Amino acid sequence: MARPKVLATRPLFPAAQKILNANCDVDYWTQPERISKEELFRRAADKDALVCLLTERVDAELLQAAPKLRIAANVAVGFDNINLADCTKRGVAATNTPGVLDETTADFAWTLLMAVARRLGEGEQLARSGNWKGWDLDQLVGADVWGKTLGLVGFGRIGRAVARRATGFEMKVIYYDALRAPLDVEHEFHVEYRDLNSLLAEADFISVHVPLLPETRALFNVARLSQMKPTAFLINTSRGPVVDEAALVDALEKKKIAGAALDVFEKEPQIPAGLKRPNVVLAPHIASASLETRTKMACMAAENVVALFKGQRPPNLLNPDVWKAS
Ligand code: GLV
Repeated sequence: MARPKVLATRPLFPAAQKILNANCDVDYWTQPERISKEELFRRAADKDALVCLLTERVDAELLQAAPKLRIAANVAVGFDNINLADCTKRGVAATNTPGVLDETTADFAWTLLMAVARRLGEGEQLARSGNWKGWDLDQLVGADVWGKTLGLVGFGRIGRAVARRATGFEMKVIYYDALRAPLDVEHEFHVEYRDLNSLLAEADFISVHVPLLPETRALFNVARLSQMKPTAFLINTSRGPVVDEAALVDALEKKKIAGAALDVFEKEPQIPAGLKRPNVVLAPHIASASLETRTKMACMAAENVVALFKGQRPPNLLNPDVWKAS
């Protein structure tokens, strides 16, 4: 069989290139700017596989432009950019990269939590500004982290990795998830289940770890943000649209919450002016961005592609109906 033709919308990393290049003919998009929709459609037209990022939409329109496509391998765990029903209808396998980014993402949720609690963004600016006049008793006083209550909304792999890190800070950890975890898991992670309303009212820090689904879109709306303590902080490393940004700006303006730390936004790369305030820490969607983890993610996507063309079920297949039908 001829070598499969692959379009990779980024050069990936050398380790992932090695896996792909050994098995496929790969067209890597190497320009510094993101691939445009037109260019994506043009280059995908004769390809058997696509290695894509969460910034590219894989839906009926793209699949129509790429009639030979057999797999779309997303280099991300979240796959809200992929219309699974459209893929399944056209017999296109879709894959993601679960598991390899949990610890790195949990590290970053903590990075944000600590930064917003201890006002690191403001402190950094002051330290660099030349205006720092030296130690002062009430300078940039923030909130303690240790001993507080951490509320996790979403208790999957990443939520659990965040929970594990809380023990060193002697925190009480409560969680809400649509699916309550078994009791032995709750004991293992030293967490207590709460319904969402109770969690919102009780937590000092709320860290969000749910996928973007119709039922989690704008989960943090005006009503839910109003239920948080005025001293509480919201940390989001999941997906931007899980938080209604206008409602968050309003809650911050009215001091209904103490601050927020955000790695994700509703319409990336746009960040509303109302969020650019001292008590909000902003990051450009980098929670999984360690070299080790991003390399693993790219390799995983490459392995999914290679498996399919070897006649094997891709290890991270999201739409198993495609496999059953083939
Ligand atoms: C990043 O946001 C991912 O979903 O992997």
